[in-house]
Amino acid sequence: MPKASTKIQAEAERLRAQIDRHNYRYYVLDDPEVGDAEYDLLMRRLEALERDYPELATPDSPTQRVGTAPSEKFGVVAHRRMMLSLANAMDAEEMTEFDRRIKRFLKDEAEVEYAAEVKLDGLAIELVYEDGRLTAGSTRGDGINGEDVTANIRTIRSIPLKLTKPARGALPKLLEVRGEVIFPRHAFERLNAERARAGEPAFANPRNAAAGSLRQLDPKITAARPLDIFCHSPGVIEGLEYSSQWEFLQGIKALGLRINPLTRICAGVAEVIAYWNDLTARRHELDYEADGVVAKVNSFALQNQLGEVSRSPRWAIAYKFKAQQAETVVREIAVQVGRIGSLTPVAKLAPVALAGVTIANASLHNLDEIRRKDVRVGDTVLIERAGDVIPYVVRVTRPDAPRKPEFIMPAQCPVCGAAIVHEEGEVGYFCVNANCPARMRESIRHFASKAGVDIDGLGDKLVAQLVERGIVLELDDLYRLSREQLAGLERMADKSAQNLIDAIERSRSTTLDRVINGLGIRHVGEHTARQLAIRFRTIEALMAAVEDELRGVRDIGDEVARSIAEYFAEPRNRQAVVRLAAQLKIEPPPEPAAGRAGLRGKSFVLTGMLAALSRDEAERKILAAGARVTGAISRKTDYLVAGAEAGSKLRKAGELGVKMLDEEAFLKLLDGGEL
Ligand code: IVH
Repeated sequence: MPKASTKIQAEAERLRAQIDRHNYRYYVLDDPEVGDAEYDLLMRRLEALERDYPELATPDSPTQRVGTAPSEKFGVVAHRRMMLSLANAMDAEEMTEFDRRIKRFLKDEAEVEYAAEVKLDGLAIELVYEDGRLTAGSTRGDGINGEDVTANIRTIRSIPLKLTKPARGALPKLLEVRGEVIFPRHAFERLNAERARAGEPAFANPRNAAAGSLRQLDPKITAARPLDIFCHSPGVIEGLEYSSQWEFLQGIKALGLRINPLTRICAGVAEVIAYWNDLTARRHELDYEADGVVAKVNSFALQNQLGEVSRSPRWAIAYKFKAQQAETVVREIAVQVGRIGSLTPVAKLAPVALAGVTIANASLHNLDEIRRKDVRVGDTVLIERAGDVIPYVVRVTRPDAPRKPEFIMPAQCPVCGAAIVHEEGEVGYFCVNANCPARMRESIRHFASKAGVDIDGLGDKLVAQLVERGIVLELDDLYRLSREQLAGLERMADKSAQNLIDAIERSRSTTLDRVINGLGIRHVGEHTARQLAIRFRTIEALMAAVEDELRGVRDIGDEVARSIAEYFAEPRNRQAVVRLAAQLKIEPPPEPAAGRAGLRGKSFVLTGMLAALSRDEAERKILAAGARVTGAISRKTDYLVAGAEAGSKLRKAGELGVKMLDEEAFLKLLDGGEL
C-alpha cells in the first residue's frame, strides 16, 4: 500500500474541511454555497484519495457517514442524566394553570419568561461530544437507559461529527445535547410510495419512519434515509456555562448544532398562547411533524429551583395541538387492486374539510382492520389525518344508529372477475389473474415512474386507456406504440402524442437499476435494485442467479432473495423480461475504476477473519475488481477466500472443487500478481 505524501495529506485535510463547511451550510443553515455537482466532485476526490491511501480515512472524515459494519444488537447506553418526559396541557386553560402553579411555587407574582419551542414529533435522542468529537448517540429508551445507535447517528448529515470551535471561548470538555430526529414530510411520501412499489408495508407516519430508519442494524440503510435533527435540551455539560435555555440554544448553534429557528422568548403565558395560535395556523407549512408547543421556563436558575416531579420537570410543559379529526359518512367501501394483485379496501366518504384540505377517501388498510373497527357503509365515522398523510378511519361514532350489513371481501376481482385467493392466517387477499388489467395498469405505471425508466407524460389516465383498449398488455408493448394509436385516445392531441412517443424513445436508453426497479418485483425497491445492478451488471446475469447468490447480495435477506428467485422462476415473467430487454439499451452501473480483466465477473465467497482487511474492505476490493461476492458456496463459485477460523465453507469448497485462497494469495490476486 503506498504511503500518502505530505502534499496528498494536505489535500485530504483541505477537502475534509471544505466538505464539512458545505455540509454545515447545507444541512444546518439551509444556505448552501455550492451546487450538488460541485459538492459531489469534492466528495469523490476525497473518496478516491482515501481509497488509494486508506490511512487517510480517519473515523471523522465526511466520507465515513455511510456507516460502519452492523452490530448484532444495539448495546445499552446509560444516560448520565435521566431523559425526562413532559406533562401535557390540552388547552389554554390548562396552560394558564401551569403558569399559575409556577408563580405559586416561586412565591412570585411577576410574569415568568418562557422559551416557547415547537414540539417536534420525532424520535428523542442524546448526542455526546467529548472534547468536541461526537462519541456516542443513543435513543431515549426508558429515560435511564437507551440504545446505542452511534453508528446510525453518524450518518445524519446535520449532526456534526466535530463541533465548530466558537469565536470566543473553547470547546466544552463534555457536551450532552438532546434533540429530536425527524423524517422530513416531503421525503416521507416518497419513501412510502417506494415501499408500496416494493410491496413493503408503509410507515404510518413520519415519526415511525424516523424511528424505523434510526433503529436499523445496518447503518447504510439509515444513511440512505434523509433524516434530520433539531437539538432542544441539555444533558450533562462540562467546561461551559449557560444561564438560560435561550443562551444554551444560541451557544450550541454556534458550536455547529442545528436548532429549530421558530423558538421564541415569551414574556408571560399570554405570549405562549399567542405563539401556539400562530403555530396551529402554520403547522401544515412545516416540513416536519409537530404536535404542539413546549413552553420552558427560560432561566436555568429558576428551573433548578422548580425541580421535577415524577419524571417530568416542573418548569416545562407540552401544550398540545388539537387533533386533526372530522366526522363524516362512509358512502361506499371500494376495493382497489394493486400491482401484485393485492386488494385494499378504501372508504369513499362524503367530502369533508380537514386541516385545510377536502377529504373524500380514507384507507381501511385490510379486512382485519375493518372487522376490528366494524366499519360499514352508511356509518358515521371519525377520521384523522395521521401525520398529515393518508387519512384513516379512527372509529365509528354512532354505532347504535341503524346499520347496513358487514362488509365482505369480494370473492372475485372487482376489475377482471378472476378468483380471489386468501391464505389462512394471512391478512392479504390477492387476485390470481396475472393478466388482470388492474395489475397491468399498476405495473405500467410503476415501470414508467421516475424511479423506473421515467417516461415523462405517461399519466394514470392514459395508462388506464391503453390497458382497457388492449393496446398495451405487456411492458414491451409500450415500445411498439405508434403516434396514430396514441392520437386515437381521449384527450390526446397530435402534439402530445408525439411528445409521448419521444419520451418513450428516450426511455429506451436506461440503466440496469431502473429496469430492475421498474419490473416491480415484490420487496425490490430502488435501493435493492441498485445493489442487484452493481452485483450482476446485466439483466441476464440477474435472471440466471440462484437464490443463494441473491442472498449474498448486500442488504438482501431471505425474504427478498426468495421473492426475486420466485419472480424469475415464473416462465411468464422470464419471457416478458427477455422481450422487454430486447427493446431497451440497458447500461450496466459504471465500471469500477481499477479492475483486473482476469477477475471481471468472477464470484467470490469470504469466510473466516482476515488480518489486514475487514470483511467490508475485502468486499469492496472484490467489487472494484469487477468481481462479485456471494454468501454461499455453489458450483458457480470461483474462489473461496479463507481467513482465520474458517468453518464449514472450507469443507464444502473442497467437496465442490472450488479454488481456495488464503489471505496472502487473495491480496496478491487483487494486486494483479500471479497465483
Ligand atoms: S425538552 C425535560 N423540547 O417530547 C425536557 N422536548 O414528552 C424534555 N420533544 O421525549 C425535553 N420537541 O423528545 C423538549 N422542543 C422540545 C421538544 C421535545 C419534542 C420531545 C422529547 C421528549 C418528549 C417529552
